[in-house]
Amino acid sequence: MVVSATQVKKVGVIGAGTMGHGIAQAYAQEGYPVTITDAAKPALAGVKDRIKSNLKTLAREKLVPESAIEETVARITVVDRLEDAVRDTDLVTEAVFEDLSTKTKIFHEMEKFCSPECLLASNTSSFPMTEISAQMVRPERAIVTHWMNPPYLVPLVELVPGEKTSEETYKTAHEILVKIKKVPVKVQKEVLGFLINRIQTAMNREVYHLLEIGAASAEDIDRAVVTSLGFRLAFLGPLLVRDLAGLDVTCKVDETILPELDSSIKANRLLKEMVDRGEHGAKTGKGFFSYTPESIAELIQERDRRFIHLLQELYY
Ligand SMILES: NC(=O)c1ccc[n+]([C@@H]2O[C@H](COP(=O)([O-])OP(=O)(O)OC[C@H]3O[C@@H](n4cnc5c(N)ncnc54)[C@H](O)[C@@H]3O)[C@@H](O)[C@H]2O)c1
Repeated sequence: MVVSATQVKKVGVIGAGTMGHGIAQAYAQEGYPVTITDAAKPALAGVKDRIKSNLKTLAREKLVPESAIEETVARITVVDRLEDAVRDTDLVTEAVFEDLSTKTKIFHEMEKFCSPECLLASNTSSFPMTEISAQMVRPERAIVTHWMNPPYLVPLVELVPGEKTSEETYKTAHEILVKIKKVPVKVQKEVLGFLINRIQTAMNREVYHLLEIGAASAEDIDRAVVTSLGFRLAFLGPLLVRDLAGLDVTCKVDETILPELDSSIKANRLLKEMVDRGEHGAKTGKGFFSYTPESIAELIQERDRRFIHLLQELYY
C-alpha cells in the first residue's frame, strides 16, 4: 500500500541545492508542510533565504500575494539528518547530486525511517528508477518525478515508473502533482534521459555544431531560436507544428537536411575545450557569453519575471 494523494499531509525533500530548494518551495506554496535536509551545512543554512527571495519575485509579479511569502517560508522546516527529514512524511523527493550509488544508498536509507506507505520519488535527470530502487525492500512505492529548473515555475514534471513501480504509486504521484499545479507527463519506457533531456540534447548538438563551423554568432543563434522555435513551442508541440506545416513538406526537408547534421555521439569539441578552460557558464563568469555577479542576478530576475508572465498567460 502507498498513500493516496488525499492522504499526503507532509512532504520531505533530500538535497537543498538548485532543484531541492525549488521543489520544497513548490509544495510549500500549495500549503504542504515540508521538511528539507542536505549533507552540506551551507546549502541548508541558505535555503530559507533562497526561497524567500524567489517568493519576493513571484509576489512582485502578483503570482502570489505578499502575505504568502512569510506563510510559505514558515511551512519549511530545515533539519540536519535524513531520518528527521523523512520521518512522519507521506511523500519524499530526493534531489541530491546525479550519482547513481549515492541515490541508491539514499533510497535504501529512506526506507529505514519513513512510514511503510510513504511514496519515494527521485528527481534524477537520467537514471532509471529500476536501478535506483535496486536495494529497496518495497520498490513498488518508488518513482522518478523529473522536474525542470526553476521547479517552482516550469509546469512539466516527467513521471517515470520503474519496472516494479505500482499503479497506485503512479496514480498518487500524478494526482499530487496536478494538485500543486504541475503538468505531469508519463514516460512509458525507462529511456535514458527521459523525454526532454533527449530532445534538448539532440537540438543542442546541432546548435554547438553550427557555432563551431561559424554558421552564425552565439548571439544570433540564440536570437533565431528564441524568435521562432521558442515563440511557437511555448504553446504548440513539435508534432502539432509539423502537422500544421504539412508532413509531405517535412519529409522532403528532412531528407535534404538530415545527412548534413552533426551525428556525433560524443560531447562537442568546442564545449569540451571551454569546460577544460574553466569556462563553465554563468557560475564561472564565462561560457558562450560573459557574466558578472550583478548581471547574473539581473538575468535570473528577468528570466523569472518573463516565466511568470508566460505562466499567467498560458496556464493560470
Ligand atoms: N539543475 C537542473 O537544472 C536539474 C533539472 C532537473 C533535474 N536535476 C537533477 O536534480 C538533482 C539535483 O540537482 P541540482 O541541480 O539541484 O544539484 P545541486 O548540486 O544544486 O544540489 C545537490 C545537493 O545535494 C546535496 N547532497 C549531495 N549528497 C547528499 C546526500 N547524500 N544527502 C543529502 N544531500 C546531499 C548537495 O550538498 C547539494 O546541496 C540531480 O539528480 C540532477 O540531475 C537537475
